[in-house]
Amino acid sequence: MKLAVIGAGNVGGTLARRWSALGHEVVLGLREPASAKSRAQAAELGLAAMDRAAAARGADIVLLATPGGEAAVEAARACELQAGQILADATNPLNARLDGLDHPNGLSGAQELARALPNVRVVKAFNTVGFGIMAQPVREGRRSVLFLSGDDPDAVEKVSALAAETGFEPLYLGGLPASRMQEEHAVLWIHMAIKAGLGVDFMFSICRGAA
Ligand SMILES: NC(=O)c1ccc[n+]([C@@H]2O[C@H](COP(=O)([O-])OP(=O)(O)OC[C@H]3O[C@@H](n4cnc5c(N)ncnc54)[C@H](OP(=O)(O)O)[C@@H]3O)[C@@H](O)[C@H]2O)c1
Repeated sequence: MKLAVIGAGNVGGTLARRWSALGHEVVLGLREPASAKSRAQAAELGLAAMDRAAAARGADIVLLATPGGEAAVEAARACELQAGQILADATNPLNARLDGLDHPNGLSGAQELARALPNVRVVKAFNTVGFGIMAQPVREGRRSVLFLSGDDPDAVEKVSALAAETGFEPLYLGGLPASRMQEEHAVLWIHMAIKAGLGVDFMFSICRGAA
């Protein structure tokens, strides 16, 4: 698949590296692709960095890995996505204290993206897992769970398949309104990592009963 990764920070860089290692065609879409920082990031990953519209053109899945909220909407618009393209939204519209979300219109960040780009198929995914786990989603034989939500079954299926290939156990939560819970889950994750002292390298896994 052609995968466009928008943002080359912790999340974008980690997933770009992993997907590239899995044999996908990965391109980086950056806001300043010619800057020394962007060129260094791309070189470290062994990938091409380009502007966001060029990266997203023809991509099977576009991963949004920028700050959430207005920055995410701006970055997604800059991708100039075509009707029907899949946008996997890994962002969280965190408040400045990182202890809650900014939902100025009562919508999740993913719902805001869907509202701003109504022809795009938005799937909320990759927002509830620390980037260290993204690099290695299987620990002690267990797979990290990866929550997904979205309104388009085909888009959800494609992102789920990519998540499974990455090493996660995908768990579909429902239509895009469920993305609110995923974003709240990210707040819980941050609280556990920082306030409860777990650090950033832990994961949630589903353990089913025998029945
Ligand atoms: N860190 C995690 O473990 C984790 C896990 C799950 C989800 N998330 C979510 O994933 C997103 C990215 O997190 P991260 O840790 O990867 O962040 P990060 O390391 O700070 O990387 C952010 C990326 O977004 C770009 N960026 C920064 N400000 C921007 C703006 N105003 N408009 C467009 N692009 C901008 C940065 O580009 P420049 O280099 O040009 O600044 C960088 O490429 C966040 O929404 C976060 O909540 C994070």
